[in-house]
Amino acid sequence: MTEPAKVRFATENFETIQKFKGSVATFVNPEGKLDKSANRLDEVCGGTLARLASSKSFKSLEEGDAAEIAFPAGLAARSLIVAKLAKEAGEQSSRKAGASIGGLASAKRLLVLAGDQEQVEYIAQGIVLRSYVFSTHKTGKDKKKSTESVTVMSGRSRRFREGYKPLAAGISGVFATRDLVNEPSNVLSTTEFGSRIEELGKLGLTVRILEEADLEKLGMRTLLAVGQGSESPSRVGIIEWQGGKGRPVAVIGKGVVFDTGGISIKPAKGMEWMTMDMAGAGVVFGLMKALAERRAKANVVGIVGLVENMPDGKAQRPGDVVMSMKGDTVEVINTDAEGRLVLADLLWYAQKKFQPTAMIDLATLTGAIIISLGHEYAGAFSNSDELCSRFISAADEEGEKAWRMPLAEPFDKMLKSRIADMKNVGNRAAGAITAAQFLQRFVRPDCPWLHLDIAGVASTEKASDFAPPGATGWGVRALDRMIRNGYETGG
Ligand code: BES
Ligand code: MN
Ligand code: ZN
Repeated sequence: MTEPAKVRFATENFETIQKFKGSVATFVNPEGKLDKSANRLDEVCGGTLARLASSKSFKSLEEGDAAEIAFPAGLAARSLIVAKLAKEAGEQSSRKAGASIGGLASAKRLLVLAGDQEQVEYIAQGIVLRSYVFSTHKTGKDKKKSTESVTVMSGRSRRFREGYKPLAAGISGVFATRDLVNEPSNVLSTTEFGSRIEELGKLGLTVRILEEADLEKLGMRTLLAVGQGSESPSRVGIIEWQGGKGRPVAVIGKGVVFDTGGISIKPAKGMEWMTMDMAGAGVVFGLMKALAERRAKANVVGIVGLVENMPDGKAQRPGDVVMSMKGDTVEVINTDAEGRLVLADLLWYAQKKFQPTAMIDLATLTGAIIISLGHEYAGAFSNSDELCSRFISAADEEGEKAWRMPLAEPFDKMLKSRIADMKNVGNRAAGAITAAQFLQRFVRPDCPWLHLDIAGVASTEKASDFAPPGATGWGVRALDRMIRNGYETGG
C-alpha cells in the first residue's frame, strides 16, 4: 500500500530550515514580491530567491506553477522549490500550487515555508496528492517512492492542522483507489480485490462478498455472463458505512479486473490499459475508506461488481440472450460492451435491497466518452437535475471536472433488439449516451440516479493536475465532498 506522506504543521524555525536535507519549498506572490518569511529565506541563501522572483522565466509562470533551484547556496537542502501564489489565494489555487510543488519534489522529505499563506491545508493537500508514486513492482535503482514526510511551517499551525484532518482521509481514499487501479490484473484478480475489500472491515465498515452461487440465486445473469469465460470467479462486494440516519446513498462501481473484450476481442495495441477497467469499483473502495476514516455522519453503501472479461470456450458469445435480475432480456451483440451488463444487475440489486435516496454509478464504460470529453472531464448522465448539480458543484470545488451529457428517448430507441427486450449496444453514433440509456433501463424513474463515465479520467498516460501518469483516483474527493455538503446529519 502506498502511504500518503505524514504532514506536520509547525512554527517557523530558520535553524531547522538551514539544516534540512530534503527539498525546501516556499512562495512568491504573482507580483514577484517576497513576504517576511521568504525574505528571511532569501537572506539565508544569498539573494537567490529574489533573483529568481525577478527573472523572466519566473514572470512567465502562471499562478500555481513552481520552479526549482538545485543545491541552493546557504541551505543544506538538495533543492529549493518556489511556487507563485498570492497570499490570499483560495482553495483551488492553493491546492494547485501544492501540486506543482509535489510534482517537483524529488526528496523523501519536504519542508514548506508557508509564510503568510492563508489556505495552507490545501497547499499540503495538493503536495501530498501529487507526490504519489506507484512503486510496488519496481525493484531496481529507479524505484522512486512517494514523498514520506511534509513539514509545513507557518503561523496558525493549529488551525491548519485541524483543517487538514478531513483532507487527509480523502487523500488516503485517493491513494487506495490509485493503488488498485494501477495494480496489474495478474495481481488484482476478482478474488484478490475481494480480499482487499474484506480488509476494510478493520475501519468499522460492514463488508460482505457475494459469491457466484449467491449471484445465481439473486438472478444476476447479465453480470455472471460477463465473467463466465474467466478462471477468476465473479464476485459482488458490498461495503457499508453507517454513520448517519435514514436511507443510504448507494455508490456502485464497475470492477472489470481485465477487459479483453471477450469473444468480441479488442485489438492488441493498448490493451494493457484495460487493467484499469475496475476503476469505478476502485473509486467506490477509496470513497468508502475515506468516509470511514473521517467518521462521516452519513449512510452510504458501496457496491462493486468484480468480473473478468475473457475469451474462452465458456465465454458468452455475440448473439447470446441473457436475462437480467430485473427480468428484462438482453441480446449481447458485442461482448466488449460488458460494463453495462455488470452495472444493470448491480443497479437493480441496489434499488431492491437498499431503497437508496440517491444512486451513483461510476464506470470506465465507453471509449466514446473519451472522444467527447478527452481526459479532462468525466461524462455525467442523470435523471435528476438536483443530484447532478450537487455532484458537479462538489467536483468543481475539488478541481475534478465533470460535464453533463444528455439522456433522451431517441437514444433509447437505438437499443431495440429483434429478438430480445433490448440489445447491449447501439450503433457507432452517440456511444457514451446509448450506454447510459442502457443503464437507465435498470433505474426506477423515482430513484435519483447519476452515471459517471470515467473512461477518460480514471487513468491517464500523461500526468494530470493532481496525479503522476497512471491512476488519478478521480471522483473520490468529489463524492466525499458531495456527501459532506448534502448528505450528512447534524450530529
Ligand atoms: N472498458 C471499455 C471502455 C474503455 C475504453 C475504458 C477505453 C477505458 C479506456 C468498455 O468495456 C468497452 O470496451 N466499451 C466499448 C463499447 C462498444 C463495444 C459499444 C467501446 O467503448 O469501444
Ligand atoms: Mn469492454
Ligand atoms: Zn470494459
